[in-house]
Formats: sequence, C-alpha cells, structure tokens
Amino acid sequence: MAKQNQTLGEFIIENQEEFKYSSGELSRLINSIRLAAKVVNHEVNKAGLVDILGAAGETNVQGEDQQKLDVYANEIFIKTLTNREIVCGIASEEEDDYITITGRNKKNDNKYIVLMDPLDGSSNIDVNVSVGTIFSIYRRVTPTGTPVTIEDFLQPGKNQVAAGYIVYGTSTMIVYSTGHGVNGFTLNPAIGTYYLSHPNMKYPEDGNIYSVNEGNYVHFPQGVKDYIKYCQKEEDNRPYSARYIGSLVSDFHRNMIKGGIYIYPNTAKDPDGKLRLLYECNPMAYLAEQAGGSASNGFERILDIQPTTLHQRVPFFCGSKNMVAKAEEFMHNS
Ligand code: AHG
Ligand code: MN
Ligand code: MN
Repeated sequence: MAKQNQTLGEFIIENQEEFKYSSGELSRLINSIRLAAKVVNHEVNKAGLVDILGAAGETNVQGEDQQKLDVYANEIFIKTLTNREIVCGIASEEEDDYITITGRNKKNDNKYIVLMDPLDGSSNIDVNVSVGTIFSIYRRVTPTGTPVTIEDFLQPGKNQVAAGYIVYGTSTMIVYSTGHGVNGFTLNPAIGTYYLSHPNMKYPEDGNIYSVNEGNYVHFPQGVKDYIKYCQKEEDNRPYSARYIGSLVSDFHRNMIKGGIYIYPNTAKDPDGKLRLLYECNPMAYLAEQAGGSASNGFERILDIQPTTLHQRVPFFCGSKNMVAKAEEFMHNS
C-alpha cells in the first residue's frame, strides 16, 4: 500500500511479503541498487564540470584517473552488488562475459542474477541530457552450490523477478517492479532519500507520442514506414507528436507517464536492431507490462523470446497497449 511521504526504504520493508520467495534477499538487493544509484547520480551530476575536473582518460589535479562515466557506473554497480552475499552472477553491457560471484565462503549459494545497462544514453552526457541505468533480476536456474553457467543468464524475460531503471534527469528517480505493479521514487538530493512520488504507475492504453529515430527512415522495414505515416496522418486524434531523446530510459519514462510508443526497429544496416535484449528490452518490457503496456519485436512478445547470446539485439516496439498492437498490425500486413 502506497503511503504519503513514504521513503523507498520504508516501502521495501513494508512490501517484502508480497514477493513470493520472500526471504528479504530481494529487498536487500534493491537496497544495494538504490545505494549504487546515489553514487552514480553524484558523479553524473558533475559531468558538466569535466573541463574543470578533467576528462575521461586524463588524470585530475588530485591525481585521480578520470574514467568514462559508463565505465565508472559499471564498476560502482558491480562493486555494490558483489559484496552483499545475494548475487551469484552479473552480466553487463560493458562486460564481454558474465561475472561469477562465489560469495565470501566460496560456496556459490547466492541466488540472484543481475543483468544491467549501467549507463544508458551515454552519448547524451556531453550535452546535459538525461541518462539512466537499467537493471533486470532473475533467480538462477542451475542448483545453488555450483558456479553459475550461461544458462542462468539466458532466461526469457518472463522469468524476471524484478526489473527497473534509474533516470538521472531533472530529478533522479528509481522506477521498479517486483511483479506487483510499478512504483517510482524521487531522490531528494539534499538528504539523499528517495520518496514514493509515483505510486502504482499505469501506462495509458492509448497515447499520442511516437518515439523513433526517424533519421533512419529509409532503412526501416515497410511495416514501420507505414506505421509512421499512420502516426502522421490527420485523422481521429492524429497526427501524433514526435518525441525522441535518444536515451531509452528517458523516452520510456515519458511515454509511460503520458502515453506513447517507442520503436527501435531492425534496419537494413542492423537486421536485429540496436537495443540489447537482456540489458535493455527485457527489463523495459517487464516494466511496460507491469504498468499495463506492452512490448514486442514487431511480431511476438519480447518477454517470450528465448535468448541465445548475452549481447543479442532485438527490434523493439514498446509502449501503450493499443499503439503497440497497431504497429504490430502494420508489421504483419507489410
Ligand atoms: P547506450 O548508451 O547504453 O549504448 O544506449 C543507447 C541506446 C538507447 O538509449 C537509445 O534509445 C538508442 O541507443 C539511441 O540510438 P540512436 O542514436 O541510434 O537513435
Ligand atoms: Mn543503453
Ligand atoms: Mn550503456
């Protein structure tokens, strides 16, 4: 139950029993993500001072090596998740292979797998536009007591037990779900506390925003071209507005609040699209569905796809239910 002025810490404790494997571990895991997000937020906020503090690859006046923020975010999340005896494996957009965590006693008895995009939309940092972190959580499928294997990471998105994102925007927010709807918490930076600001978020069933990098139009499949023309047609409540930030987290966040569709299709150049199934599309699809929206590759539900490789890409259509259904109709008929 959402309460006024509730902090994320209080919310996690009060809703712990809702989680079917309730042992407190998942709550502790979300807690560590909350902590890492504060550290990354602090660093992202300083990005504009790069000329003063030193750019990536340089050494600053304190003698510290300056890292690219995506590498920094990756390290902070990995460190924070590793030390807590909850996570047995991490896979990240920034790592070639998955990381095995054996735990302090080397018994491999931690249960959770985390997959993440530590900094999404990183090309927007230089121009002071919102970026984010995306995370996805599964229970391991191989027996505890043995090292994790690739099988633990290549689970279909429908097996997720939790997923969420942090958006480092005009305000910093954590939005996440453990399978009981989606809740959003806003950071009060003065005291370092997240407050429940967006309880029980719902994707409007319809919307009037379409988000796609239309610069690639000529390379789009015919179905997407046809759908874009439909969005632009003067009829009913159309034409829709075009809004594209180029940060998936921010585009998704806006569309979930206002109603809209985000599309990153396959193109002639990238036959599988650009976005990563495990680090980007699955967690966003899980959140979309938890909020009453939907997510598809144009033909089938994202969460049903059986992954075959860690870094696999997939075309992505995500947003208001009726808009995704319409786009699928155009894909089907083209
Ligand atoms: P990342 O910064 O993690 O590599 O992700 C960037 C992604 C996503 O956030 C965004 O929606 C998309 O790339 C933008 O791609 P285009 O510049 O090709 O439109
Ligand atoms: Mn990304
Ligand atoms: Mn990234």
